[in-house]
Amino acid sequence: MRTVYWDYATDTVKMIDQRQLPWTFEVAEFDDYREVARAITEMYVRGAPAIGATAGFGMALAARQSQATNREALLADLDAAAAVLNAARPTAVNLAWAVERMLRTARQETLDTPDAIREALLAEAQALADEDVELNKRMAYNGAELISDGDTILHHCNTGALATVDWGTALGVIFAAHEQGKKIHVLVDETRPRLQGARLTAWELDQRDIPFDLIVDNAAGHFMRTGQVDIVLVGSDRTAANGDVANKIGTYKLAVVAKENGIPFYPVVPTSTIDLSLDNGDLIPIEERGAEEVVTVFGKSIAPKGISARNPAFDVTPHRYVTGIVTEAGIVYPPFRKHLREIVK
Ligand code: MRU
Repeated sequence: MRTVYWDYATDTVKMIDQRQLPWTFEVAEFDDYREVARAITEMYVRGAPAIGATAGFGMALAARQSQATNREALLADLDAAAAVLNAARPTAVNLAWAVERMLRTARQETLDTPDAIREALLAEAQALADEDVELNKRMAYNGAELISDGDTILHHCNTGALATVDWGTALGVIFAAHEQGKKIHVLVDETRPRLQGARLTAWELDQRDIPFDLIVDNAAGHFMRTGQVDIVLVGSDRTAANGDVANKIGTYKLAVVAKENGIPFYPVVPTSTIDLSLDNGDLIPIEERGAEEVVTVFGKSIAPKGISARNPAFDVTPHRYVTGIVTEAGIVYPPFRKHLREIVK
């Protein structure tokens, strides 16, 4: 089943409510693009490629909701919807990338009636979602070449089917290596504060019978220093032109410790996540989420009442810690500025 999809029977956007996993499997339904934006912010759906596909369907929904009776009025409504969707989460560039792709589709001069635009937008959102699955699989088999029989892989956050339309990025590489019959073991970072590792990655690995151990985030350094990790695989929400990689908070620490211990560190990144317009990672907007995610666990307070807390959702790993970047078009090695430009082209 796909993480997010268009239901053609009801003309609504449906998505797995990931806030409820692994306890309950619920599919939420949306008929308003503003609610789709809220679902992205509140993390019903999360993971850079999944957010992008969701925003694509959100734009298709906005076109259907609009009462516009001429092309110009519909394009104005779509610009307004784009602003709402773009504001939902700032770090994953796939969101803005997908919204921009939808706006480009809508503005095609050959589409001269509102209904033609509506139809084209739904087709484009569907194509974007279908492509995501295809390229994830290509990326996964490219990355699986890095995995040897017997490897232990350290993984952060959730980068599986749930973080994409289907299959996954870094976790997709792990699925591909497993499918190839390699005996692998995964160390799964729990990934505080939202516990995407414990709740979602553990759930996906368990379903596929891939051997793993869940570890607290603070244990990763211990396992790397004591020779129990062969490779670190992560995803990315935005990769800058120089190869600096923004990903789930805690990734930077993993990369530094990996380098210190001579362990290869590979982000697995669709080219839609590479933002050549940003020279380096310092320019990537880092989402700061509410303090309640830090001071509570599942609604239960774990700190004195009223204290202050900081909650950056992502960090930037400078490219000097990155061994290589796995994409659907191949694995990119330094110098990243040159090679990323070539591969995105
Ligand atoms: O806050 P999240 O759960 O959306 O963060 C997800 C990640 O950090 C992933 O590693 C990233 O989106 C890329 S993987 C598909």
